[in-house]
Amino acid sequence: MRESKIKPVGSATLTYNNKSYELPAFSGTEGPEVLDIRKLYGDADVFTYDPGFTSTASCESDITFIDGDKGILLYRGYSIDQLAEHSNFLEVCYLLLHGELPSKAEMAKFDKAITFHTMVHEQLAQFFRGFRRDAHPMAVMCGVVGALSAFYHDSTDINDRRQREIASHRLIAKMPTLAAMAYKYSMGQPFVYPLNTLGYTENFLRMTFSVPAEEYKVNPVLAKALDTIFILHADHEQNASTSTVRLAGSSGANPFACIAAGIACLWGPAHGGANEAALKMLEEIGTVDRIPEYVKKAKDPDDNFRLSGFGHRVYKNYDPRAKAMQIQCHKVLDEIGHHDDPTLKIAVALEKIALEDDYFVQRKLYPNIDFYSGITLRALGFPTSMFTALFALARTVGWIAQWKEMLEDPHQKIGRPRQIYTGKQQRDYTPLTKR
Ligand code: ACO
Repeated sequence: MRESKIKPVGSATLTYNNKSYELPAFSGTEGPEVLDIRKLYGDADVFTYDPGFTSTASCESDITFIDGDKGILLYRGYSIDQLAEHSNFLEVCYLLLHGELPSKAEMAKFDKAITFHTMVHEQLAQFFRGFRRDAHPMAVMCGVVGALSAFYHDSTDINDRRQREIASHRLIAKMPTLAAMAYKYSMGQPFVYPLNTLGYTENFLRMTFSVPAEEYKVNPVLAKALDTIFILHADHEQNASTSTVRLAGSSGANPFACIAAGIACLWGPAHGGANEAALKMLEEIGTVDRIPEYVKKAKDPDDNFRLSGFGHRVYKNYDPRAKAMQIQCHKVLDEIGHHDDPTLKIAVALEKIALEDDYFVQRKLYPNIDFYSGITLRALGFPTSMFTALFALARTVGWIAQWKEMLEDPHQKIGRPRQIYTGKQQRDYTPLTKR
């Protein structure tokens, strides 16, 4: 069990219905202090109201910290910029799961454990064949990942530490295989088995883009770019899909079912689907001279058009992931000889115009990670329908780390919010003959 690290820092007094209640205050290591309202309902018979959880900390967590005003994102204390520049996705997986960077021996052991689990049960290929060929990859991923619990019963006991660990390794290892299979199935091409001499991301690229009739060589620049994109998406504290995973897990559901719930939530356009919208918008703008027209539309209070890939609920500064994504975008386009990509030109020009415009400055609207990710993923060869599946692949480690942390938290309870009921008051049933 994990020990609580929150520190008492005083209290606040709430006066309600002429009575006073002391609310203890706590601090963590970074970020705002919190008021503890756990006993409020019992003591004062009143709920708090916070739809969307904009002012509510739902848990204590050691994993990821975001300072939205300063544009800072830390995984276990390390800045996303340093990790994107110097680390690799598998090392970041270890860091998120275990809290520290691995030693050489620990890294080798972890790498082996993940690589050992990259294959999926052969019967899963039959399971895929039950889907229509034109099914959206995210629809397939929701189904297939949920079905893993039917294939791997021996790692579904959440009270067994070793089973939890095996399930974690299986999920991280099999997500690339499953995402590549979803792509292959939609293309009508044969599934490609993993090749354990390759690294995590190289293996995924090969399973996705190789065909048995041709030799396939992984391009190291493109593999490095995709690996960095995975790092940028690996975790983002208590976002909607992560909170979904925690809520599903709070009932004791098995890890495969919990991650399938996270995938379902991620699929929504307000969460994992924005990169596709940003790419579509840039393509629709078409030429740099049309940018002012779109900026004008975005600023018009009577027009609900928004610049996709701009603004963020938490970041009121440049999204640090967007900076790293922009670097990768340029590298990928240079590598494939598309440095004159018209969509990139429009993105760069649009970003410059928007960042100098009072409307965007006053509202603290900056590019978010999705602004450049669509261009980059398309240049890497992925169809737009795969964008969110790639996000799910990368976010799986964050979901697992958060799920594992929740299970080890002694304060963990089943998630059960309350409500303000505004429906009918109690009334008597009228039989059908009298209505
Ligand atoms: N373009 C133009 N105006 C915008 C934009 C935008 N992209 N985003 C916010 N605004 C304006 C709003 O119209 C509002 O203006 P007002 O005060 O005059 O009414 C103000 O900025 C505040 O906007 P809210 O919607 O209150 O901000 P919120 O924090 O709730 O929304 C969100 C954040 C949903 C991301 C929003 O900025 C948006 O819709 N962006 C475009 C979609 C997008 O890129 N989503 C990806 C997010 S990153 C991710 O999920 C991985």
